[in-house]
Amino acid sequence: MKRDLLSLQDLTREEIIGLLELTEQLKQDKYQLNNQLKGKTVGLVFQKPSNRTRVSFEVGVFQLGGNCLYLGPSEINLGVRESTADVSKTLSRYLDGIVARTHSHQDIVELAQYSSVPVINGLSDLYHPCQALADIFSIREKFGKTEGLILAYIGDGNNVCHSLLLGCSKVGINARVATPPKYEPQKDIVGLAKSYAKETDAEIILTHSPKDAVKKADIIYSDVWVSMGQEKESEKRLKDFKGYQINAELAELATKDYIFMHCLPAHRGQEVTADVIDGEHSIVFDQAENRLHTQKAILITLLGEKP
Ligand code: CP
Ligand code: NVA
Repeated sequence: MKRDLLSLQDLTREEIIGLLELTEQLKQDKYQLNNQLKGKTVGLVFQKPSNRTRVSFEVGVFQLGGNCLYLGPSEINLGVRESTADVSKTLSRYLDGIVARTHSHQDIVELAQYSSVPVINGLSDLYHPCQALADIFSIREKFGKTEGLILAYIGDGNNVCHSLLLGCSKVGINARVATPPKYEPQKDIVGLAKSYAKETDAEIILTHSPKDAVKKADIIYSDVWVSMGQEKESEKRLKDFKGYQINAELAELATKDYIFMHCLPAHRGQEVTADVIDGEHSIVFDQAENRLHTQKAILITLLGEKP
């Protein structure tokens, strides 16, 4: 039966660890397992712009011996030119897998529901599972472990925050999320993360105080204050998020060897200052690179030739 990756809810802790181990192997030699997608075609159905996700999937599929098709909004305008169900049923007749980037998460759920081939979430309004997997891989690479570390996420309780909450709780990373009031992560997703955290002895804390969150943290994480699709709210958001910037003064409160993470794209001077994101603690380009390796592990697991 085909399997999808719409959210980290879809993976058990053991499956996540398995993906991290496969990623490690793939990172050591990028042409390893290069026949896994031989003769296969993956479609990228993207309704929003992308640098990292598009390029890392295209390159990853190529390195595994397959072929990629980019299907942007002018080719496939989900639900506008034709229904999402019809798009999904049609693409399933041509493709071996679909990576989708949509506005509404419901569109990805619907794509997966009508598709006979695996669907991978390349970012929706609710989740960014591929990013969180690459982030957990990057954290493990830097610290040699995940259990017991403290990650402080400062900013918007958005798609990236949701996937980090699910991913961290599954691998035993304590997650502290500091948002302005009314920008907290969704309650049901926090509830899920707390239920996973019970099994790994991790702690999930929500606060409105960036200082409380960052105190003795091993990892400081930030994302944009205005996500794609929220441009009309820009002015209000920039005001509401004042005080949630990662700068040298805030970072002082973290551990001495803390790492700074950001999924990118970033806005220097808004959610993070240039000295922090371009400084010695920042691993943002390792994160970007690791998207390639983790997604190859995902592709092999969901679409690859089984031995
Ligand atoms: N981090 C991330 O998903 O980047 P893109 O929007 O450029 O794909
Ligand atoms: N939260 C951001 C992440 C971009 C990778 C957005 O949705 O635009």
